[in-house]
Amino acid sequence: MPNTGGRHFLQIPGPTNVPDRILRALSQPTLDHRGPEFARLAREVLEGLKLLFKTSGTIVIYPSSGTGAWEAALVNTLSPGDKILMFETGHFATLWRNVAVRFGLEVDFILGDWRHGVDPAVVETTLCEDKNHAIKAVAVVHNETSTGVVSRIAEVRKAMDRAGHPALLMVDTVSSLGLTDYRQDEWGVDVTVCGSQKGMMLPPGLGFNAVSEKALKASSSARMPRSYWDWQAMITANQTGFFPYTPSTNLLFGLREALQMIQEEGMDNVIARHNRFGEAARRAVRTWGLEVNCLNPQECSNAVTAVRVPEGHDADALRKKILEKFNLSLGNGLGKLQGKVFRIGHMGDFNDLMLAGTLSGVEMGLALAGVPFKKGGVQSAIDYLAGNE
Ligand SMILES: Cc1ncc(COP(=O)(O)O)c(C=O)c1O
Repeated sequence: MPNTGGRHFLQIPGPTNVPDRILRALSQPTLDHRGPEFARLAREVLEGLKLLFKTSGTIVIYPSSGTGAWEAALVNTLSPGDKILMFETGHFATLWRNVAVRFGLEVDFILGDWRHGVDPAVVETTLCEDKNHAIKAVAVVHNETSTGVVSRIAEVRKAMDRAGHPALLMVDTVSSLGLTDYRQDEWGVDVTVCGSQKGMMLPPGLGFNAVSEKALKASSSARMPRSYWDWQAMITANQTGFFPYTPSTNLLFGLREALQMIQEEGMDNVIARHNRFGEAARRAVRTWGLEVNCLNPQECSNAVTAVRVPEGHDADALRKKILEKFNLSLGNGLGKLQGKVFRIGHMGDFNDLMLAGTLSGVEMGLALAGVPFKKGGVQSAIDYLAGNE
């Protein structure tokens, strides 16, 4: 790869750019995870996370990726053979389904087109038909990172309430927490799953479950085997500021800094900043004459924009060209969307000029790769950004 100079543009939809402040926090000397300083750190981050998840419930932090947190949500609340309602909104929803299947859960997987979020009406009818309440949980991916589509969690909750169904609601917020509106308690979510490497601006390596009282109660009778992921062991140890096994000490330094940064900016401002990025990116795509993968304007992600390339063109060849020429990494199409889309990540530690630079790289790359497009996408984006402070 030629040396292009300057910094690499890491515009995949996570892991995202880690701000220098957090890198410095991570580089502190590792501390004794059984000592008093660590206990203070653990208590501080466990408390701070409640503000981020908007919950008064229990937070569990694992030294894991998001996939571990998926598994934890399932094994702590369910028993072998239990029925769970899941939705094929994209690649990550499919992977979570696969975890559930491997654990012997009976998954009712509602098929989708990878261009829409969960339809609350389908949630309602499916639950209404489940007269014996065989379905024990409804699991939804909030921001489908593979498709750039957001599912409307508050509406899913309302649909569950209209059906009068007691299933738990589990939500994957791996690529939405810390950048999109999310309210665990108000929306009646029972288990929120998250990871550190997207809106939290941290490197990968922390997995989270935010747990409601109802989910905790379910865990006391759930029969799925569990050890490493056991909430109870965590909760008991966390009460004194410790963990049942070695925690990711340095990542927790970074987490404390990240929570501080989000608090300083203000969550509403963080959300507004991402809304601008989403809108500006979509304007660029439309001007290029390309198609945003998300079909419902109400559901477009402000964290990631998945862009469809015209039939007969290969999104991966385009990404390769852009990486080689401009040192810019874009997300690839996953699963069914492989080669069909490229994904622009615009979340986390990100600003207007980073977006302008990223979109410039895409526009130049489209020309170099011979993908048919109309010029002016970057101009549309910067006109929007300049006109909307
Ligand atoms: C929405 C979503 N859920 C789950 C995951 C899986 O997380 P991990 O790769 O950290 O295990 C990802 C990863 O990108 C994701 O985007």
